[in-house]
Amino acid sequence: MEYTSIFDSHAHYDDAKFDEDRDELISSLPSKGIIGVINCGADLKSSAQSVKLSEKYDYIYAAVGVHPHEAKNFGDDTLNELRRLAANKKVVAIGEIGLDYYYDFSPREKQIEVFEKQLILAAELNLPVIIHNRDAHEDTLNILKKHRPKGVLHCFSGSAETAREIVKLGMFIGLGGAVTFKNAKKPLEVAATVPDEFLLIETDAPYMAPVPFRGKRCDSAMIPYTAEKIAEVRNTTAQEILNLTAENAKRLFGID
Ligand code: NI
Repeated sequence: MEYTSIFDSHAHYDDAKFDEDRDELISSLPSKGIIGVINCGADLKSSAQSVKLSEKYDYIYAAVGVHPHEAKNFGDDTLNELRRLAANKKVVAIGEIGLDYYYDFSPREKQIEVFEKQLILAAELNLPVIIHNRDAHEDTLNILKKHRPKGVLHCFSGSAETAREIVKLGMFIGLGGAVTFKNAKKPLEVAATVPDEFLLIETDAPYMAPVPFRGKRCDSAMIPYTAEKIAEVRNTTAQEILNLTAENAKRLFGID
């Protein structure tokens, strides 16, 4: 089955896992139906690389931001550097930013401080945010209620109940390969219940490859497997899911 209108709202093609064949792979994606990719930064270096990729490829857009794992390295100048990068016209979001209490690679107080600084930057620049949240649902929700950004909870791992709270704030839910995994009960409940206008689809490439590629290097061409699973629980077709999520991504990120 050939699919079109695939918009991958979250990928990391700057990752070293693509060093061997990055250009060849990225050049091949439009022929597989991919019409858009948001390449997300996780620190200043990967944010700058995201901008470079977006300048090189028409259909790639960039998000710049500092991931909670890297929050401990967020210095006095980091915010200005992000502001400078965000001035590029292919930068469509601040991300990925958020909280990760599963790994706790940065102290939680520092994660919160850096998250809030970047939410304030996004508001200043009138850009949506791409949010990473792992095992920090309560703090994430409280901070979002305080700042009320536009944006998406990427690779959403919470309950259908939490998803409802997020949607009430006008934010999007990003679903990826996890919906295809065995024991995907929670993600499938979320996939079944998110309102049409708040659903996005993503890879988190090179991670989170959907079944039957689980554990392998992931790329945007694998999204149809995720779309098929989401379509199954929403009683529609994978192509309808791809059309819908592409429209939603363009609307959220201000892409024509
Ligand atoms: Ni990511």
